Amino acid sequence: MTPVIEANGLSVVFGKGAAAHRVLDSVSFRVGRNEVFGLVGESGCGKSTLLNCLSGLQRNWEGELRIDGAPLARRRSKACFRRTQMVFQDPYDSLHPRHTVNSILREPLSIHRLGDVDARIRGALSEVGLGPEFRFRYPHQLSGGQRQRVAIARALILDPEILLLDEPTSALDVSVQAEILNLLLDIREKGRITYVLVSHNLGVVAHMCNRIAVLHGGVLVEELVPDQLREHTPQHPYTRRLLDANLGYDRGKAHRMLQGAESGG
Ligand SMILES: Nc1ncnc2c1ncn2[C@@H]1O[C@H](COP(=O)(O)OP(=O)(O)OP(=O)(O)O)[C@@H](O)[C@H]1O
Ligand SMILES: [Mg+2]
Repeated sequence: MTPVIEANGLSVVFGKGAAAHRVLDSVSFRVGRNEVFGLVGESGCGKSTLLNCLSGLQRNWEGELRIDGAPLARRRSKACFRRTQMVFQDPYDSLHPRHTVNSILREPLSIHRLGDVDARIRGALSEVGLGPEFRFRYPHQLSGGQRQRVAIARALILDPEILLLDEPTSALDVSVQAEILNLLLDIREKGRITYVLVSHNLGVVAHMCNRIAVLHGGVLVEELVPDQLREHTPQHPYTRRLLDANLGYDRGKAHRMLQGAESGG
């Protein structure tokens, strides 16, 4: 089957001459439809840059990117932007403070000239578990978790094929993190959507992802399945160091947190 996302020799260099800094170095991977593909690695290894290449925010990449088999141009059409949506780490930053939830959700619809505005807004709110009473509130009238739900609704309202999640829960309280992660898993179960998830929390990544790519200094050093994370059996020495350094990895804790949220605890 054609992968939904395919990267072949993807490289990004920032700066010129002596100041040139290769942030992604010939990264190749494939993501199948409805997969959750994790990206881990220490700060500065190029995770957000990689998501930005996929979302179209970053244009100075080299190599090849394909969505559904079709090569991506560096400059994208509006229709192409619509297919890949992004959810950022901090819902306090990503939602306009003086816009109501309604206008936040309406904006992408008007950019992409989509009709059925009312039904789409109600549908998107309900998909993220927010009732109609939230529709005319401002971000400061919402909790952190509710704000992140609005950010997810804003991405989903365009019915994208791919959701790029850059640390979507790390700005949230632990109990709320579990709620949002479980919401994302529920949304994925319903549809054909594909996720690329960046997280520093290896427990979260092991719980959420089908496969996990380890980036080190812009190089994809290894791809893992969750069991290799759980059982601490990676092949590459860097991944072993990453696991040993723990980086918030406590599978038992992550599992309990997610189970607790599922049972409403
Ligand atoms: N627009 C830019 N211009 C120049 N350098 C950049 C730019 N964006 C990112 N970088 C550099 O690229 C490297 C990778 O950054 P990136 O944000 O992708 O890391 P990251 O893995 O997401 O880190 P974190 O986990 O801290 O979010 C960093 O050294 C960063 O300083
Ligand atoms: Mg980042």
